[in-house]
Amino acid sequence: MRNTFSLAILTVTLSISSVFAERTAFEPTKPWPDNNGVHINAHGGGILFHQGLYYWFGEHKTQGRRGNTAQVGVHCYSSTDLYNWKDEAVALHVSDDPESEIVRGCVIERPKVIYNPKTKKFVMWFHLELRGQGYTAARTAVAVSDTVTGPYTYLRSFRPNAGKHPVNVRPRDLRPGAENYFHRDIESGQMARDMTLFVDEGGKAYHIAAAEENYTLHISLLTDDFLDFTGIFSRVLIRMHREAPAICKRNGRYYLLTSGCTGWAPNEASYAVADDIFGPYEPMGNPCRSVNPDNGMGPELTFGGQSTFILPVEGKSDAFIAMFDVWQPRNPIDGTYIWLPIEFDADDRMVIVYREKWDLSVFDPQ
Ligand code: DGJ
Repeated sequence: MRNTFSLAILTVTLSISSVFAERTAFEPTKPWPDNNGVHINAHGGGILFHQGLYYWFGEHKTQGRRGNTAQVGVHCYSSTDLYNWKDEAVALHVSDDPESEIVRGCVIERPKVIYNPKTKKFVMWFHLELRGQGYTAARTAVAVSDTVTGPYTYLRSFRPNAGKHPVNVRPRDLRPGAENYFHRDIESGQMARDMTLFVDEGGKAYHIAAAEENYTLHISLLTDDFLDFTGIFSRVLIRMHREAPAICKRNGRYYLLTSGCTGWAPNEASYAVADDIFGPYEPMGNPCRSVNPDNGMGPELTFGGQSTFILPVEGKSDAFIAMFDVWQPRNPIDGTYIWLPIEFDADDRMVIVYREKWDLSVFDPQ
């Protein structure tokens, strides 16, 4: 009896310590417990490195189909090592005011936060769909905070670049046509769905979003305070029907990783490269290799994931992590994460190989 009891205590102790054990590796697709042992809830997210800590912001999902709409807001976690994440609570809360644009039940997707050293403000942009309107509003929205973990104050949403022409405008873009969505939206402002942010060397910030019914991406320069659009933008991957943009800069070149447009279902990733952030971007094909043994999905389905962010690893050179979401639209809170190291081959091509378990030592010089 006593032996059985001791064994039970030992088992409980072991299982508690395995939940809270320091993680020393990434295990893509598997549940990823935070400091409380709860699976991280930061989907479609992005990461800000600030004063020695990484901050992961993402969509807080809930259970059931309803969890595909925003019931809570944007969740924040912090980490020193990228493996172990501390719950920093909800950074942007949905509102209970039915007049608010971010009333509970709206859609808040792909939040990203950047820091403005001039204003000392943290600025969050995200894709907003108004409650009860499906995905028709296609707005970008902005919130701001004096502290990195928030709470963020919601400012406004809009369709950007109203009345503006892109830096790479062509005469045919200004001719009306049934499928000329750019022309259709000039006056009202351009659609803005899946998005990311990028702060370039020199401190200029860019907003990159799926526009024109998801047919074309728009890359827009933000104002110096990062709180608005300047009206300077470019249309890229024109009519290629890409979304889920994630970008990094390596050796002076911009690598733009995207997915196809198939709702929550996985599809094939591809990337494109440019010498100027506004393009032109040269399509380079699918960077993914190998198969995810957890679901049998290979490069043609991005291992079951969809891109959301490319994270430069601090203190290591040429070290970037590609972040993907594995969506679970029937029970969105169960969505998992695939983080993989980006390799560059001898021709500077991006390569992303599936790994079941890996750590940051892959970036150390061989
Ligand atoms: C794909 C997008 O990448 C997601 O962020 C989300 O908007 C889904 N579509 C909705 O179907």
